[in-house]
Amino acid sequence: MIKQGVSLKTYNSFGVVAKADLFAVAKSTEDLQLILGDRRFHSAWILGGGSNTLFCNAPKQPIIHVNIAGIQIIEEDTEDVVILVGSGVNWHELVLWSLEQGFRGIENLSLIPGNVGAAPIQNIGAYGVELQDVFEKCSFVHRNNQTIETFDKAACKFGYRDSIFKNELKNKVVITNVSLRLKKKNYNLNTSYGAIEQELLSNNITVPSPKDVSDAVIKIRSNKLPDPKQLGNAGSFFKNPIVSNTQFQKLKTSFADIPHYIQPNGNYKIPAAWLIEQVGLKGVRKGEVGIHKHHALVLLNYGNASGQDIRDFSLSVQEKVQNHFNILLQPEVNFCC
Ligand code: EPU
Repeated sequence: MIKQGVSLKTYNSFGVVAKADLFAVAKSTEDLQLILGDRRFHSAWILGGGSNTLFCNAPKQPIIHVNIAGIQIIEEDTEDVVILVGSGVNWHELVLWSLEQGFRGIENLSLIPGNVGAAPIQNIGAYGVELQDVFEKCSFVHRNNQTIETFDKAACKFGYRDSIFKNELKNKVVITNVSLRLKKKNYNLNTSYGAIEQELLSNNITVPSPKDVSDAVIKIRSNKLPDPKQLGNAGSFFKNPIVSNTQFQKLKTSFADIPHYIQPNGNYKIPAAWLIEQVGLKGVRKGEVGIHKHHALVLLNYGNASGQDIRDFSLSVQEKVQNHFNILLQPEVNFCC
């Protein structure tokens, strides 16, 4: 369960070389409680699928890799099903499993990298659907006393790429399982996102099934997001910034065509990819690091970049965008240094 001097290269989708002095794998809640109770692991870094983590060469913290398996149906009636999923299950495998069962709800979230345990932390979302739309509850272990607690949706305080686990409970708990409520019938598919509509149309699909929507999402994502197995990356590197109405109006006078999405509270979300593209960085490569030519929000490891190289490059992106637009991009990726 506990090892020393473990290479982290295969544990991060950026594929950077890094070594953990101390590394533990938790395959169950009980394992996790034991490891968290070991004082060597009090300040450990919690690692799931490694698709949102950028490691520096020699992270100072020990690593706990949470690898709790299992998908179970825990409630079912004629319309709905509630499933309980271990936090170590790969998210996309869960999506495929749910489609095989004929369940609806997470098809728009196809091909999102990472494991189920990370899904509530950043309320994963894509193509008009967020985890919170299907979320029922999740359980976690408190790091300080190893007790277990379960939160429902309201308690998780979900927001755009946000939840209580990134705020009040940041670094305080480790998620062990997640329950989702999926539909067996009487569902409405969310195909309003332009690219999905187009993809379905081009295949002459007028009454899509959840599988059709998933296939469309997979096609769209594969066309613009590089496969980490071929080119190291962590999906969107930055979050889309949200600015106040006043700041937005100011931006609009200088940049009339700025894309924007109005938020329920009157603020505006601006696509970070657009900001990065406008400062001329899309497709740019500097040594072993670069920005994808099909999507300006994706930073790439061309093979031999170190975590520090990627971090330095990301700082230069932030600086350029800030100088041009007076907007400070916030990384979606977490740095483990
Ligand atoms: N855009 C550009 N240049 C580009 C790409 C996009 O200007 O190279 C602009 C366009 O105006 C486009 C807009 O950005 O309309 C939005 O682009 P896209 O639909 O690709 O979405 P995104 O905001 O860049 C978010 C998520 C993705 C998710 C997509 C689809 C964040 C940080 N990212 O990206 O999630 O797949 O929406 O719903 O919210 C991830 O988190 O790793 C991720 C890939």
